[in-house]
Amino acid sequence: SSYTAVIPAAGIGARMQAYKPKQYLKIQKKTLLEHSVNAFTNHPLIEHIIVVVHPDDETARTILTKDVHIVVGGEERCDSVLAGVNYAHEQLQSEWVLVHDAARPGINSGLISKLIDNVKCSTGGILALPLVDTVKQISPTASAEHSNTPRVDKTLDREKIWSAQTPQMFKTAALQQALQFAIQHSLSITDEASAMEAMGTEVLLVEGHPMNFKVTKPEDLQLAEYYLAQSQL
Ligand code: CTP
Ligand code: MG
Repeated sequence: SSYTAVIPAAGIGARMQAYKPKQYLKIQKKTLLEHSVNAFTNHPLIEHIIVVVHPDDETARTILTKDVHIVVGGEERCDSVLAGVNYAHEQLQSEWVLVHDAARPGINSGLISKLIDNVKCSTGGILALPLVDTVKQISPTASAEHSNTPRVDKTLDREKIWSAQTPQMFKTAALQQALQFAIQHSLSITDEASAMEAMGTEVLLVEGHPMNFKVTKPEDLQLAEYYLAQSQL
């Protein structure tokens, strides 16, 4: 089988409130994007790496090695991922794609192997984490007395809820079709698995690791630095 990593890095990182998109912020002298890409470069089963960038991006070409394919992304994350998946299918004829957020620099070879091993004989799957907190669904209607504060509708069964990480691994052709369908029908999908679920495809959940969290807000950078240092011990 052939495996290609598709790394969406075309976002603007609004919630990070930094002077540049978060994938270009550095921890330990390397950008988040490089940390994410390196995990795939170092993995023996990954044949190709596609990084999807913003149309105005001039940084990716200067920091990535020549063997990384660079593709221009779109408005929403799913548009960027589809651009990468189209390339994986049409230019590289790769059987499988592993889609991984540039903003998850904590990914490593062991987690990539764990996902591939558990998913390669199925229709696809994702890294994900069981929740540790009790989960509340909020009420669609406000409280009469405290209208500015959300209130609980009900408590969900924590045993039945995992939070999705990346990589998300699917057959390239199937993911291409699912993303095209989701975009055409304006389904609100926030990851690849939701597009596959909409097609009725089974998606396996493989337990990931907290260090593979998505760097989203300013305070997340220090946590990413901590995990990176831990992984080098
Ligand atoms: N992404 C992308 N194309 C988009 C939007 C997001 O390739 N149109 C990428 C981001 O670069 C990131 C990953 O998808 O690596 C996860 O998205 P997110 O964490 O939401 O990043 P941003 O959209 O950049 O951040 P924000 O939502 O805070 O603006
Ligand atoms: Mg976003």
